[in-house]
Amino acid sequence: TPDKAPPVKGDVLVHASESKEGELIKVSDLSEQLVRAWPMGKDKDGNKVIRKGDPNNILALYRFPKGQIVEPTKLDVTVDGEIVAYSDICTHAGCSVADSDQGDGMKCPCHSGQYDPKRGCKVIGGPPPRPLAQLPIKLEGDQLVVTDFFASMPYPFLSETEWEKFK
Ligand code: FES
Repeated sequence: TPDKAPPVKGDVLVHASESKEGELIKVSDLSEQLVRAWPMGKDKDGNKVIRKGDPNNILALYRFPKGQIVEPTKLDVTVDGEIVAYSDICTHAGCSVADSDQGDGMKCPCHSGQYDPKRGCKVIGGPPPRPLAQLPIKLEGDQLVVTDFFASMPYPFLSETEWEKFK
């Protein structure tokens, strides 16, 4: 069903927090603090569908000052090198990753996996086997729009073979 389908090209990003759920995310809503988002697409009748039926679709958005986001982040699929989107699902065992209390990137509450959202969400501590997957986005008018599927394997439960089929 469309609410469980992973993000696809053309989806728009909406707030996931309880108080703003479903509202379109604006550039001015974003900062160096994590903002969680859902992709929102359409069903076959053209009705809007928030893809929250699968909790693995939760996304992490950041807006950093220009020049702070560097490789291996795929800069061409950020917004002006300032706004970046990742899967928020830890590649170790699937917990939702949060901002670190120490202000040094992201930290997973389950087994202390750490990621650097300014550097492609590469793993900087703990057990995760690979980075959080970056989701390609662009700005269209004042909406954040998905332009492609995840750039790498997003979830912990896929094997390489399953990922090949999933793409
Ligand atoms: Fe994130 Fe284990 S689930 S570190």
